[in-house]
Amino acid sequence: MPIKRLSAQLVNQIAAGEIIERPASVLKELLENALDAGAQAIQVDIEAGGKRLIRVRDDGTGMPADDLALAVQSHATSKIAALDDLDHIATLGFRGEALPSIASVASLRVTTATGADAHGYTLTVGNDAEPAPAPHSAGTTVEVRDLFHQVPARRKFLRTERTEFRHIQELVRRVALGRPEVAFRLTHNQRDVITLSALTQGQERQRVTDLMGESFVAASLQLDTQAAGLRLRGWLGLPTAARGQPDLQYVYLNGRMIRDRLVTQALRRAYADVLFKDRFPAYVLHLQLDPAQVDVNVHPTKHEVRFRDGGLVFDFIQRQVARALAEGGAYAGSSADSPAAVNFNAPEQAFALGSEPGPAAAAATAALPLHEARAVYAEAPATPSEPSNVDPTPRLGHAVGQIHGVFILAQSTQGLILVDMHAAHERIVYERLKRQYAEQGVARQPLLVPINFTVSPVEADLAEDQQALLTELGLEVDRLGPEQLCLRSLPALLASADGETIVRDVLADLRANTASHSAGDTIRAQIARLLGTMGCHGSVRANRQLTSAEQDALLRDMERTPNIDQCNHGRPTWVELDRRALDRLFLRGQ
Ligand SMILES: Nc1ncnc2c1ncn2[C@@H]1O[C@H](COP(=O)(O)OP(=O)(O)OP(=O)(O)O)[C@@H](O)[C@H]1O
Ligand SMILES: [Mg+2]
Repeated sequence: MPIKRLSAQLVNQIAAGEIIERPASVLKELLENALDAGAQAIQVDIEAGGKRLIRVRDDGTGMPADDLALAVQSHATSKIAALDDLDHIATLGFRGEALPSIASVASLRVTTATGADAHGYTLTVGNDAEPAPAPHSAGTTVEVRDLFHQVPARRKFLRTERTEFRHIQELVRRVALGRPEVAFRLTHNQRDVITLSALTQGQERQRVTDLMGESFVAASLQLDTQAAGLRLRGWLGLPTAARGQPDLQYVYLNGRMIRDRLVTQALRRAYADVLFKDRFPAYVLHLQLDPAQVDVNVHPTKHEVRFRDGGLVFDFIQRQVARALAEGGAYAGSSADSPAAVNFNAPEQAFALGSEPGPAAAAATAALPLHEARAVYAEAPATPSEPSNVDPTPRLGHAVGQIHGVFILAQSTQGLILVDMHAAHERIVYERLKRQYAEQGVARQPLLVPINFTVSPVEADLAEDQQALLTELGLEVDRLGPEQLCLRSLPALLASADGETIVRDVLADLRANTASHSAGDTIRAQIARLLGTMGCHGSVRANRQLTSAEQDALLRDMERTPNIDQCNHGRPTWVELDRRALDRLFLRGQ
């Protein structure tokens, strides 16, 4: 075929292929234009899942007649003028492609008024040579009819009306979650589906409740934090309220909804420590940074972005979110509501792992100078600097008794609390091991009688190769023969646990994960995982009867422990039944 220039129509259709896949993608472009025009209220009317009609009316700036004629032409935009502008884009659109692309695959009519003239103008692409006067209040209405009617190949890919409308509804949710200050209304076939009034600053919670549900807000932490020119705010779903699919994850970058790998990964990492595998957290997060620090001109749909300093953004998100999660729950409650719950003289091992806390241990820790004791709790950010007046009822209450050998029942100010001893203790040990590791390495306790045991040659090789790492983890292991290992020390926190099993588990974990090591498993993540594996062995065995002092000690330990609301595997460690729930159970006051 000889070379020919493509017609403008064909060029636009090709461009449309990149951004317009279905009715919801048309709507996305129209909503972004309305928001860029400063709309305070946006009305969306849909017919037949958007296949017959998509109409967006806004009360934004509107356009004068000349701009209207230009707006529907290719490469016409009011949002950038020069190459430099691409470096700091503050608007959602900038390509000047959306309207002509839409016009190439559907019939498009735009009616708009600036409020300066007595009337507005309307233009139907393909029919009108130029804008004609028409009544319209200040703002713009864009009507898109019969999507893909002259592109049968594309039309074929459209799904049922219901499915297409579901995508539309999800899009409106997404956009509306990001812009609480704008009112939204969505109708389908003349029936109201979503109505949201405009909210002022500080009322954002209402929008989140409307769109994510009361249960999300109740099981989430609010976050607002900034550092190094970055700000992150929003709601983090608690790990215990995680979901089977990643369907409630909303991230906005400077007001733009994004689906970015780096951001998703950073969040995944932050939650990794407190979440079951294959569970997905819910969140609504706004990331703000200087537009010059990010390139949104990566993909036509603008969902992906490129950060100038990706490492910085990754670390910032991961740290802030992990920190917020650690501070949340019983831990935050204890230090915020009852500062005295943090007791600097508390023996680090008040609740000794499987062994009774002897008087010698208590004496030793009591003698710990205050500044060292403080360092032990240095990670706790909400820790008050001095212990103050004693709150009679700590967050997790006072133990009433042990049930079935596995639960502790406690009475709290609110009602009653049930603790899964094993799960709670796993987390306590794990967090202590992590803290020790971070500070001066896991404290070791030499074994009076070293343990010799047989392993496979592969495991023995691994133990030899990784001897330094094992030692750092508190496990001094020597190789005595081709299949012989000797364990000489255990982490002090696990002194009474079964050393041989710990070593076997750690070696098994190392073996299983050396393969995935290259796949982005950082040393940090690896250490955390190994400490988690070890932590499981330190926890109280079921059916061990605790004295009531030990039960209370466990509760106090829990209040001091970050991430205490979930065990190392993401299961909840405690539940509370408050007075209202108890009354409901017994139908009191009904
Ligand atoms: N609802 C609206 N209110 C006011 N002006 C609008 C509206 N919709 C579009 N415009 C004007 O029309 C121009 C073209 O819109 P279009 O969506 O095609 O491109 P864009 O938004 O500039 O870039 P992009 O292709 O990235 O969306 C915009 O730059 C804007 O000036
Ligand atoms: Mg646009």
